This record gives sequence, structure tokens and C-alpha cells, in this order.
Amino acid sequence: MTGGPLDGPIELARLVRPGELEELLEAVRRVLGGELAVYDPRGKLLAGSQDAGTPSRDLDHDGERIGTLAASGPQAAAALTLLADTLGLLVHHANARELAAMTHEEAMRLTFGELTEHNLRLQRAVARLEELDRLKSNFLATMSHELRTPLTSVIGYAEMMAEGLAGAITTEQGDYLATILSKADQLLGLITAVLDVATLESTPQALERNAISLSEIVASEVAQFASQADKRGIAIQLEIRGESVVLGDRKKLRQVVSSLLSNAVKFTPDRGRVGVALGPGPLSPGEAETHRAVQLVVTDSGIGISRDQVAKIFEPFFQVDSSSTRAFGGTGLGLTLAKAYVEAHGGRIWVDTTPGQGSTFIATFPLRLADQLRDEQALEERS
Ligand SMILES: Nc1ncnc2c1ncn2[C@@H]1O[C@H](COP(=O)(O)OP(=O)(O)OP(=O)(O)O)[C@@H](O)[C@H]1O
Ligand SMILES: [Mg+2]
Repeated sequence: MTGGPLDGPIELARLVRPGELEELLEAVRRVLGGELAVYDPRGKLLAGSQDAGTPSRDLDHDGERIGTLAASGPQAAAALTLLADTLGLLVHHANARELAAMTHEEAMRLTFGELTEHNLRLQRAVARLEELDRLKSNFLATMSHELRTPLTSVIGYAEMMAEGLAGAITTEQGDYLATILSKADQLLGLITAVLDVATLESTPQALERNAISLSEIVASEVAQFASQADKRGIAIQLEIRGESVVLGDRKKLRQVVSSLLSNAVKFTPDRGRVGVALGPGPLSPGEAETHRAVQLVVTDSGIGISRDQVAKIFEPFFQVDSSSTRAFGGTGLGLTLAKAYVEAHGGRIWVDTTPGQGSTFIATFPLRLADQLRDEQALEERS
């Protein structure tokens, strides 16, 4: 900034507006008569009339000459003094006002500078985090591939030995091989799950999009778990209402249903109850039924989950009670995957639970109407 009171000569014309100067001269003239004039230090007439004669008084501010004054008439001396004093006051106030404004502006500029720098630092941090996140997902995906390949050989050779392809084996050897196979299978399942989460994180579009009847999947999964539940005196109640066609990935939808059912049966004591209901409902908890959605509701009369743990159960590898790992098995990835799959389908998943009384898991999926589906398929065929 140039010409301001902080770094340049004080400009009378800038501090006291011409209209103000003329008003002042007029007022003095009315009282004391004669002609008056105000000049800038270079001799340019700022206000009044040339008839006032040659300037005979300097106007100073802080020891600096900022203008000259002229007066004519019988009371010229008094008029000059009055004019000089009043102008001096006006300049002083205007200068103080301008100084305050400039100080304020300077403070704002500093704050703005700090904010801009802060923003830049944040932007850099976010970019770095995004980069790390991408690296993490890539790393997981690559690692899972690398881990699966040797494991497939372990399983293949163990199976061949178990089948006696490398010569007869004893019962004990057979038992050991069975253990190797079951643990290797468990490991393969785990690696596949990790790979799935990583793939969905890095490429959510990896999902297949077919018209899938959820009711078929639910009915067949309930049948799968029926005998296991039956052995423990648990009857699975099934209720299906209304439309249930969604656009999505059959394998992943099946895994969501299987995961919720497996948990319900696993965490319910013998002779407990498990209910599975599929029907229309809102897409999110508490939402009015504006979105057409289908809800999968899996209820159990099991051990329930305490309030402080419930927020964590969708996190990878989290299990409420680590001793339950020994009692119930599992790895703590079932719900993590279920949540990732449901959300990849545009749905939501949440739970309502009371310790000691049971849990209700609700997964929702946007419903596709038959005609909407036809439109989408027609669009796909055309493109
Ligand atoms: N229906 C339920 N009743 C009580 N607790 C549950 C229920 N479902 C899940 N949980 C709790 O949430 C934890 C995480 O569930 P999740 O399905 O992710 O893992 P898991 O069943 O332990 O292992 P996995 O599904 O990988 O075999 C469980 O270990 C259990 O503590
Ligand atoms: Mg589970």
C-alpha cells in the first residue's frame, strides 16, 4: 500500500474531502469575512479562491508541511488562525481514523496469511493420508494374492496324501492331514476375506450388478443353517413378504445373509430362538419410507452386546470377548465384510441389542422395481 499515513507524506486532499474543506472555508468566511484559500505543499489550489492572495501561513502536521493557507480582508489574521486550528484538528482525526483502519487491515492480513498456510498444511496432510490409504489397500491386495498361491499348494498336496496318492497312510497320519486341511481352509477363508475388504476399498465398482432375488438367497441360507441349529434345539423362523429383487452381487449378498445367520445361531444358547424376516422397510434407521428398500432382519434370543462394545463390532477382527474366540471360533471379520458388502450395494446395516436378551441385526438394500430393472437392462444392452 502506498501513500498511507504509515509510509508516505500526509496528503491533505486525501484526509479532508474537498466538500468538507469548502464547508469549513464557507463557515469561517461567514464569521470573519474576506476570501480564503487552501493550497497543497506544491501550490495547487485545493479549496477557496485565488483572490485570497499569496499564502501566508503553513499548515503543519507532526512537523511536516502539509499545505498552505491564504486569507484577505480586515480580519485576515484571525481567519488564518481559526482555519489553521480547525484544519489541524480535522487532519489529526482523519489521520488517526486511517491509522486505526490500517492497523486492523494489517491484523486481518496476518490472520488470513496464517489461515492460508494452515490450510495448505492440512491439504498436504490429507493428500499424504489418501496416498497411504491407497498404498495400504494395494499392499493388502498384493499380499493376499501372494499368500493364497502357496496355500493352494499346501491344500492340494495334503489332499493328495490324504487320498493315499503318495502311498498308504496310517489312521494317525490321516487325522493329522485332516487337521492340516481344516486349518489351511480356515486360513484361506481369512485371506480371501482380507482380499475382499481391500478390493472393495480400492475399487468399489468391482461389484457385479445382476438382478438378484434376496428371498431365494435367504430361504436357501436358512435351509443351510437349519440342521446345525436344530441339533442345539434352535428353530429358525422364516418370514418373507413383498418384493425382494435387488441389483447386486449374488456371492456377496449370500455372504451377508450367511454372516448374520451364523452369528445369530452361534451367539444364541441351546433352545433359543432365531428369526429371519425379509420385507419392505426404510433404507436407514428412523427414516420415513421415502426410499423403497428391502430389509433383512435377523433376530436372536442370544447373549446380546453391551452398549460400549456395540460400536466396535463392525471393525475388523473385533470380538466382544476374546475368550469367546475359543468358545465360538471365528475371526471377527464376518460383520466387517457384511457392512462393506451392504454399503457397496447402497444399503445400510445396524443393530439393536440388549445384553442377556438378544440382538436384532438389520441390513437394508435399495429395492429395484421390475420396470426400473427393465429400463436399466435396456440401457446396458444399448451401450
Ligand atoms: N448376534 C450376535 N449376538 C451377540 N454378539 C454378536 C452377535 N453378532 C456378532 N456379535 C459379536 O460381534 C463380534 C464380531 O462379529 P463377527 O461376525 O464380525 O465375527 P465372528 O463371528 O466372531 O467371526 P467370523 O464372523 O469372522 O467367523 C463377535 O465376535 C461377537 O462378539
Ligand atoms: Mg461372524
